[in-house]
Amino acid sequence: MKSTSSKYGTVAVTIHWLIALLILVQLGSGFRATSTVESAAREAILAMHAPLGMVILLLMILRLLWWWFADKKPVPVAGDPAWQTFSAKAVHVLFYIVIIGMGASGIGMMAASGAGSILSGAADGPLPDFSQFLPRAPHGLGARLMLVLVALHVGAALYHHFIKKDGLIWRMWYGAN
Ligand code: HEM
Ligand code: HEM
Repeated sequence: MKSTSSKYGTVAVTIHWLIALLILVQLGSGFRATSTVESAAREAILAMHAPLGMVILLLMILRLLWWWFADKKPVPVAGDPAWQTFSAKAVHVLFYIVIIGMGASGIGMMAASGAGSILSGAADGPLPDFSQFLPRAPHGLGARLMLVLVALHVGAALYHHFIKKDGLIWRMWYGAN
């Protein structure tokens, strides 16, 4: 279950890949919602987008609690230049901040606009124009920052896999080393 000094444990690996998958779904569905003009279709996308976003937030909190109270991160890979070790750490920390910010601003949009009751089917009516509510701007900004982080992070993972060929990806997968 727990990580070792050279490998992430089952819990960390499962949460990592669940969040990774859900983030991609969220980026796709979020931008899709914004570009959908037809109200019912937009509502259907957001009725999935909002609860999934909250699942990510919960997983993120679980991940933090797990790191704080139960597990210890593996040591950074040996032999990487200092700037790469630092950048990797910075991207990971920014991921945490942006993901929690996206969850919080999403919930903020629901609270400020009252759209939660429409999306859950408890009330009828057209969705509000979310841009009138304060949390919409950081949500949009966070989404774009997330795209940059994903590109850097996946780019680094592919560089390790195909160019350095150091097997880094297996640190974030199941099984013993
Ligand atoms: C798209 C959403 C993703 C997010 C938010 C994300 C986030 C993170 C974070 C925060 C860590 C640090 C460990 C932790 O706190 O659990 C990490 C590690 C890692 N990620 Fe991702 N990740 C994503 C996608 C991916 C993808 C698509 C790949 C592979 C192509 C990948 C490969 C890795 C690897 C190999 C590590 C371990 C790095 C090391 O050993 O130091 N991640 N990821
Ligand atoms: C990590 C979690 C999340 C990610 C990655 C994400 C991603 C996105 C993206 C990419 C957009 C489009 C941004 C733009 O076009 O400027 C968006 C819009 C939106 N998201 Fe999220 N989101 C997340 C969580 C949430 C949550 C938890 C809620 C609600 C509880 C939510 C509600 C919304 C709403 C209402 C919009 C606006 C749609 C519109 O203006 O038409 N999101 N999201």
